[in-house]
Amino acid sequence: MKADPDLLMEEFFKTYGDRAADPVFFYSPGRVNLIGEHTDYNGGYVFPCALDFGTVMALRQTGGTRIRLNSLNFPGEVDVPLASSYTPIPGSWTNYPVGVINEFALKGIAAPGLELLFFGDIPNGAGLSSSASIEMVTAVAMNEITGEGFGMMELVKMSQRAENIFAGMNCGIMDQFAVGFGRKDHAISLNCDTLEYSYAPLILGDHRLIITNTNKRRGLTESKYNERRAECGKAVELISLHHPVRNLSQLTVDDLWMVEKYIDSPVIRKRARHVITENGRTLEAITALEKNDIETFGRLMNESHDSLCTDYEVTGIELDTLVYEGRRLPGVIGTRMTGAGFGGCTVSIVESLHTEEFVNRLGETYSARTGLKADFYMPGIGEGARRI
Ligand code: GLA
Repeated sequence: MKADPDLLMEEFFKTYGDRAADPVFFYSPGRVNLIGEHTDYNGGYVFPCALDFGTVMALRQTGGTRIRLNSLNFPGEVDVPLASSYTPIPGSWTNYPVGVINEFALKGIAAPGLELLFFGDIPNGAGLSSSASIEMVTAVAMNEITGEGFGMMELVKMSQRAENIFAGMNCGIMDQFAVGFGRKDHAISLNCDTLEYSYAPLILGDHRLIITNTNKRRGLTESKYNERRAECGKAVELISLHHPVRNLSQLTVDDLWMVEKYIDSPVIRKRARHVITENGRTLEAITALEKNDIETFGRLMNESHDSLCTDYEVTGIELDTLVYEGRRLPGVIGTRMTGAGFGGCTVSIVESLHTEEFVNRLGETYSARTGLKADFYMPGIGEGARRI
């Protein structure tokens, strides 16, 4: 089912009744990151784009004292009384919207009584930012109905905090940023240290972007992610005993000797090496795309995956099978994991002529190796979060 407002209107009336006013609708996309992985919380560059699938939310103000939340993606209603601050419900999808409503509450901006219905066509837990999409659609909606007029950057930061606090995922800013600032047919180059950004047209000519979902359930993502983040913090601490650095992205490949010299632990050393080399690759890839040099872009995508596999150790058999088997197929320019890792999706650039073969042959090999079925998407690049 497509995230379509007409369908959601019907479902909304089935859920909440149709005697009162019609709901209003908001939309927010998912995202895919092309390169620059695990660099955002290290003050580095990322290069994501918003997808043309996402989350639609229908909202009606009730004049009451409760927020009722339903989703067509998850069973059961959650009903929360209005409060001056909110607490997470362990494991509930409603932590994403309620976390954002809580951010407004912490600024002294109370939500009115609400009936909310969500529907998303982003596969959940696939590393395509279904959670950031729910956060941002809520943030844009709350901003509008409360008349606060926050800029998109503030809504992005509030959504990131909601994820940190309500979902316990110590994520960087990339996902909420890409989902908020997405632009049709463009990727966004974002410096996560200064938050300066620019748009780059994503012109792939005779190539297609293919996203492949491992369909592996991701169990330990939050804890492993937070562990990587802590390891990077440790690396900065050790290097800064000898050389002043605020974050790993202040170092370049020419500084890698410091990593070797000042960090004893081989594991922390590898983590730092990934971040520093990945940041360099990302800048190089952005320049390559500006010059329409897809071959170089693809090579850097491949190198990014190799580094995420051996140095950052966030891949696993499912992602590695898709990437390393994918690379053997004709017309594959570059392929890598995207998002946090440990499962989720890969992103590949494939010559248009060979996309069918890619999907068929990789799908077969993947099933034979892992016993799982991969899903393939050929998304368009869409706009960011907004009222519709
Ligand atoms: C997740 C996080 C992002 C980013 C990526 C890895 O998607 O939410 O902030 O750190 O992982 O690049």
